[in-house]
Amino acid sequence: MLKINENFLKLQDSYLFSTINKKVNEYIAKNPEADIIKMGIGDVTRPIPKVVIDAIKNAVDEMSKIETFKGYGPEQGYEFLRKKIVENEYREMNIDISEIFVSDGAKCDTANIVELFDTKAKIAITDPVYPVYLDSNVIYGRTGEYDKFSGKYKNVVYMKATEENNFEPLPEELEEEPDLIYICSPNNPTGTAMKKENLEKWVKFARQNNSIILYDAAYEAFIEEKDIPHSIYEIEGAKEVAIEFKSYSKTAGFTGLRCAYTVIPKEIKIEEKQEKIELNELWNRRQATKFNGVPYIIQRGAEAIYTKEGKKQIKENISYYKENAKIILEGLKKAGIKSYGGKNAPYVWIKTPNKMKSWDYFDLLLEKYNIIGTPGIGFGPSGEGYFRLTAFGDREKTIEAMERIR
Ligand SMILES: Cc1ncc(COP(=O)(O)O)c(C=O)c1O
Repeated sequence: MLKINENFLKLQDSYLFSTINKKVNEYIAKNPEADIIKMGIGDVTRPIPKVVIDAIKNAVDEMSKIETFKGYGPEQGYEFLRKKIVENEYREMNIDISEIFVSDGAKCDTANIVELFDTKAKIAITDPVYPVYLDSNVIYGRTGEYDKFSGKYKNVVYMKATEENNFEPLPEELEEEPDLIYICSPNNPTGTAMKKENLEKWVKFARQNNSIILYDAAYEAFIEEKDIPHSIYEIEGAKEVAIEFKSYSKTAGFTGLRCAYTVIPKEIKIEEKQEKIELNELWNRRQATKFNGVPYIIQRGAEAIYTKEGKKQIKENISYYKENAKIILEGLKKAGIKSYGGKNAPYVWIKTPNKMKSWDYFDLLLEKYNIIGTPGIGFGPSGEGYFRLTAFGDREKTIEAMERIR
């Protein structure tokens, strides 16, 4: 008899955003006049920069002519874009274009990468965490059952990221040695970013323990502090142990267009039956089998980001969000509310006042101030007592929200 992949049944309902919607809808039904400010969802709101739109329009025209029409493209991405990525993002890091894989999202790549490794490989994730890392491993059968009391899956190494360790768990805090280590910096949800010296410790650990670091740098464009690496390959020795994920979603407003890339250096090799297998080759094979590439017109749009005008225009959008984050941080400070992040990321992580539970704080902000945020507990058990606000909103609304809280 046909059976389903039972691992799906282990997944916990992602009730976070559905519960938020339900609570908000109930509140609006009772208070139809309420002027709600949304600071919950991690999606951009600024339109796509003009250079990108122009490049896409040109590419659309190319598609209409027999001489320039394009069908299937290379699964790894067009060379014109991969070249620009290497020249602009990895200058002096000695990354080759064959190590860049253009994709339709860091979400799919961080989820799909788990296919390359043995089901018995032990994963380490931070707690709280971007849920995709965990759920993709659950589906793949790499975790045990979910324990309702602890809010954790068995056979997963949880690395607490709280106020106590500055939201930067270190290898010496590990309770077990993992094979795959997820690091997201700048971090969703905490909005903090990992300092170079700490990332060096992780690279050293991975090299000593034959682990692989899965480094999600989707928010790299928001980094402003000097001691925060923009790429893990800034760390010596990282090319043998780290895969890096980057995305144009938050960098250039591509959440609806879909374009990202993953870097898999050829130096990463895993010993199997006395042979050294390159992960780059495996991923190439995987992509060629399951993926037919990102649309040509979108890749032309992404390429335009690397022009002088493109760089200027995307910087303007990022500065807009960063200014919002500053307004949020200052507003919370004036209100006497402790908060973290927001400097190198579009997220501000509030420590709830008076040790309030995340959901109680959600209710308070919704009912008293008509502001919607995201309860920290939704990102993992150690997110309890924290709350996420995003800087992706409208400037006036952000100012208004902080005035209400004050
Ligand atoms: C940490 C992190 N990685 C990846 C993604 C998804 O990126 P993409 O839009 O490229 O799939 C998100 C989106 O919110 C994210 O927060």
